[in-house]
Amino acid sequence: MHSCPSVALLDWSGAKSMAQPVRRTVFVVEQGVPVELEWDEWDERSMHAIATLDGKVVGTGRLLPADDRGTVRIGRMAVMQEFRGQGIGAAILAALLACAREQRAREALLHAQSYVAAFYRGFGFIERGDEFLEAGIAHVEMTLTLAARTPG
Ligand SMILES: CC(C)(COP(=O)(O)OP(=O)(O)OC[C@H]1O[C@@H](n2cnc3c(N)ncnc32)[C@H](O)[C@@H]1OP(=O)(O)O)[C@@H](O)C(=O)NCCC(=O)NCCS
Repeated sequence: MHSCPSVALLDWSGAKSMAQPVRRTVFVVEQGVPVELEWDEWDERSMHAIATLDGKVVGTGRLLPADDRGTVRIGRMAVMQEFRGQGIGAAILAALLACAREQRAREALLHAQSYVAAFYRGFGFIERGDEFLEAGIAHVEMTLTLAARTPG
C-alpha cells in the first residue's frame, strides 16, 4: 500500500528550492521544454503546491492570481516519473482548486498537454477550442466553473 502524499501551499520564496528540481527534471529534461520558457515572472506571483511523500518532494503545480473576471490559471503540474499513477497529481490539483475556491475565484483555466486531458476531465474540466502548440507540445485549453456568476 502507498503512503498518502501531503501537499503544502507556499509562495515562491518558500517553494522555489523544492519546485525547481521537479520542474527541471520533468519539463526540461524529460519533455525537452527549453529552459528559458520554463521560468517566468508568474512564479513570483503564484501560490505553489509542493507534494511530499515519505519526506521526499515528488510533485508540484502552481496557481496564478485571479484576473479581473475571477479566472485563476493553473499550470506547471508535474509529478516525478517514478511516482506517477498513485494519486499525487490529483492531490496537487485538489489543493490548488481548494485554494482557488477559498479565494472565491469563479473559474479555473489551464492549458493541458493534450495527452493528459483525461486527468483534468476527471476533475470536471472541459476542453475549449482547438489544439495548439506550446513549447512544441500539443495543448488544449480547459476550464472548470468554480462558482456561479452573481446576478447583477
Ligand atoms: C499529469 C501528471 C501531473 C498526473 O500526475 P499523476 O500523479 O500521475 O496523476 P494521478 O495518479 O493523481 O492520476 C489521477 C487520475 O488521472 C488519471 N491520469 C493520470 N495521468 C493520466 C494520463 N496521462 N492520461 C489519462 N489519465 C491520466 C489517472 O488514471 C487517475 O484517474 P483515476 O482517479 O480514475 O484513477 C503527471 O503525469 C505528470 O507529471 N506528467 C508529466 C508532466 C505533464 O505532462 N504535466 C501536465 C502539464 S498540462
